[in-house]
Amino acid sequence: MQKIAIMGAMPEEVAPILEKLGSYKTTEYAGNKYYEASYKGIEVVVAYSKIGKVFSTLTATTMIEHFGCDRLLFSGVAGAVSPELKVGDLVVATKLSQHDLDITAFGHPYGFVPEGAVFVEADKDMIELSKKVASKMGKSVKEGIIATGDQFVANEERKNWILETFDASALEMEGGSVAVVCNALNVPFFILRSISDAADMDASFSFDEFLESSAIISAEFVMNMVDEI
Ligand code: ADE
Repeated sequence: MQKIAIMGAMPEEVAPILEKLGSYKTTEYAGNKYYEASYKGIEVVVAYSKIGKVFSTLTATTMIEHFGCDRLLFSGVAGAVSPELKVGDLVVATKLSQHDLDITAFGHPYGFVPEGAVFVEADKDMIELSKKVASKMGKSVKEGIIATGDQFVANEERKNWILETFDASALEMEGGSVAVVCNALNVPFFILRSISDAADMDASFSFDEFLESSAIISAEFVMNMVDEI
């Protein structure tokens, strides 16, 4: 029987998911809380990792290796890189990179370390499924590259560099590390983000204003994905 990990980074990102589950069992493990439930007959494990690549690596690994999840869906918010994207828009990651990974001093491209890859591709079947879910919901969803780094980007120059270097549509702080974990452990993954800000000088204000509403938009979509899996 399949067991689905549903992950966010912040409490606001998983609160609407827990609300949908109704009742769940809480387990403390490795400094975090994991919420286990049966949702419409499917076993799910929900958690928020805390912000950043290290915590999200720990949580994704724990959900797979300790709780036995065999599929992972991530729901949360992101800064827009593409000028087409506005607050509340949804972005499905086609592939993910780490924009702050830099050993260019040794002649490697940004985002690359030996035996790694600049981009990790998300599961194609779940991306296909997301199109079906989007049309059922009457929503338009953008597919694009998501760039991840341990930085809250609130700087037009950095944002434009990320666009030019990785051709990213959106940026955030966890997707790239979750992608590396799932890829290494052969677990299909899907990363969805709703835009909270434009990663510019107003980003922190916009983030505070729209975190909750954008997190709800993303969570609703992800739960509709779970319904279809
Ligand atoms: N998540 C949402 N907005 C972000 C930003 N501007 N930088 C990094 N992560 C984010």
